[in-house]
Amino acid sequence: MPSDSIKRRVTVKPCEHPSELARAAAILHYFGGEADQAWLDRWLRFFELERMHAAYDGSPPDAAIVGGAGAFSFELTIPGGAVRAAGVTVVGVLPTHRRRGVLHALMRAQLDDVRSRGEPVACLWASEETIYVRYGYGLAVSGLEMSLARGDSAFRGRFEPIGQTRLVARGEALALLPEVYDRARRQTPGMLARSPAWWEHRRLADLPERRGGGGPLQHVVLEVDGQIDAYALYRMHFKIEHGSPCGKVEVLEAVGATPEATRSIWRYLLDIDWTARIEAAALPTDHVLRTLLASPRRAGFRLHDTLFVRLVDVGAALSARSYGAAESVVLDVRDDFCEHNRGRWRIGTDGVRRVDGDADLALDVSTLASLYLGGFGAFELARAGQIEERTEGAIARADALFRTDRAPWCPEIF
Ligand SMILES: CC(C)(COP(=O)(O)OP(=O)(O)OC[C@H]1O[C@@H](n2cnc3c(N)ncnc32)[C@H](O)[C@@H]1OP(=O)(O)O)[C@@H](O)C(=O)NCCC(=O)NCCS
Repeated sequence: MPSDSIKRRVTVKPCEHPSELARAAAILHYFGGEADQAWLDRWLRFFELERMHAAYDGSPPDAAIVGGAGAFSFELTIPGGAVRAAGVTVVGVLPTHRRRGVLHALMRAQLDDVRSRGEPVACLWASEETIYVRYGYGLAVSGLEMSLARGDSAFRGRFEPIGQTRLVARGEALALLPEVYDRARRQTPGMLARSPAWWEHRRLADLPERRGGGGPLQHVVLEVDGQIDAYALYRMHFKIEHGSPCGKVEVLEAVGATPEATRSIWRYLLDIDWTARIEAAALPTDHVLRTLLASPRRAGFRLHDTLFVRLVDVGAALSARSYGAAESVVLDVRDDFCEHNRGRWRIGTDGVRRVDGDADLALDVSTLASLYLGGFGAFELARAGQIEERTEGAIARADALFRTDRAPWCPEIF
């Protein structure tokens, strides 16, 4: 039973030494691993040590570290622009100290730190979706899983792929892929900027223990008129049964900077010989294959959660995005964990500002996060009882203001 005494004993502070990071990475216990020297050396190439908060049972230096929560310094694409965002990661509390308020203390310290750094937004992938809403996070981006038999992969109508595909080695991938990704990233809410270190030590790391029985990471690029317009990262899982190939292509990421290039790189992935299936996850919900396949039902598309967002500074976060043409609305925002956000905010194409007076709509800050990237509409959130309409017609105005022309997409777990 959690007691006040343990709550009083827990102190949280940023790590100063790699050995603290190793102990604060309590989440590795659950992965069945440990933060050995190789893990630390790799992590410190793309992670800032001081962005790891460690939870101590007792007061340092005599206390034991029993959990931790980290954050990457990201830039997140939002409708009409981008914001600095904390990418929350490696959140874990040792099983010896669970349900005693350690996570609560970590979230408090981390969100205060994010705010003091001037990052208007925090975001994360949740292992369990019910944990983070109490801290103001809301599901902002959904993804699709797909498992398609190669024999069912025909496109509807005639299709002429463009450009020329080319398999490249890791070094060339490191040189070519970031530019294509960046072009796509700037057009797509939910995508995160990647540093050179991220590309080298995360996205293209290809650790043998992460291959899941498949072959090495393959990198293919699509060149159109002398420019690389799309790429894909995938793994072959070779298997033969009764003389027939029954392996699969596991698509880890396929990104196109133009719609034509996106269609063509997918045709390449669906046509690889000696495979029976093509599997992918975390595809955007408006993925082109949903309307391009002759039999989309055979792809077995399945919805799943991807990115949760927390508006740490509601005013700055809302001011940074663009809005659809509609009359303004006044939102009454509840925020039990970050009280500075509480109050009434007027949102319009002419800007965002705090106001006095009556509100048109009332909602929790976690629901506002679901609206923020265009991943959920005001009508659907209102039908779920998440938005209270105080002025008739205000849901329609909010829906038009926040709606976007493409679904947000977060292709990579972090
Ligand atoms: C999930 C985890 C971080 C919770 O840590 P904890 O210190 O036990 O959490 P706390 O005691 O501070 O609980 C804080 C609140 O979260 C709730 N909570 C804790 N774990 C939860 C879970 N797995 N699912 C739903 N709610 C949970 C608690 O009930 C409490 O709610 P309350 O404030 O409304 O009473 C910890 O159990 C853990 O490390 N789990 C394995 C790794 C993991 O899932 N990490 C998260 C990765 S995204």
